[in-house]
Amino acid sequence: MPRGKLIVFEGLDRSGKSTQCESLVSYLSERGLSVKHRRFPDRTTPIGQMINNYLQGQSEQEDHVIHLLFSANRWEAVAAIEADINAGTTVVIDRYYYSGCVYSAAKNNPSLTLAWCRHPEEGLPRPDLCLFLDISAEDAAKRGGWGEERYEKKELQDRVRQLFTDIRATDDGSDFVTINAGQSLEEVEREIRRHAESCISTTDDASPLRRIQ
Ligand code: TMP
Ligand code: MG
Repeated sequence: MPRGKLIVFEGLDRSGKSTQCESLVSYLSERGLSVKHRRFPDRTTPIGQMINNYLQGQSEQEDHVIHLLFSANRWEAVAAIEADINAGTTVVIDRYYYSGCVYSAAKNNPSLTLAWCRHPEEGLPRPDLCLFLDISAEDAAKRGGWGEERYEKKELQDRVRQLFTDIRATDDGSDFVTINAGQSLEEVEREIRRHAESCISTTDDASPLRRIQ
């Protein structure tokens, strides 16, 4: 049986990731593909609840600690993700380790460099495709709903966008497809479907899931 693919959505808050992620999952499953939807942070686990409290301002965490909790929240899902992929199910995830790296590094804490932030992510399954929904912080803010959670601030989102740009120039960025998220919902949807279908049909079924090195 061909293995499932690992497809990830990334972008700023309010870039349309969640809507597009849901739309892709329905689209693929309507076409008979076995597909599972996940999101990080997964707020349903005990670690995820600690993250949720922090994001909502109900608790404080030291910068390195919250970074490691976000990473642990991915690690606790790895066995299930791998089991799905090995069973032929494509897993579509709303945010992954790229968010883990850039949001923490955007805090400008001198000992939270992008390189430091990336270390705990090494060994995680590497996506077959990362759909990066690109939008400026100004345009994202216009979509409303900003300011509810801890990281939804213009200055931080500007740094996050810059760090995503930096990542795109590295080996991690070689999995990225950048999509202009300022287009209409339907245009964004069409581009995403095209890339996802091409990933699903062209990734060599014999090739095992790669790891983040
Ligand atoms: P969400 O808006 O997708 O629910 O994510 C909540 C916030 O958490 C968002 O501002 C991005 C941030 N985040 C991190 O800081 N590190 C991570 O590893 C992940 C997955 C998200
Ligand atoms: Mg958010």
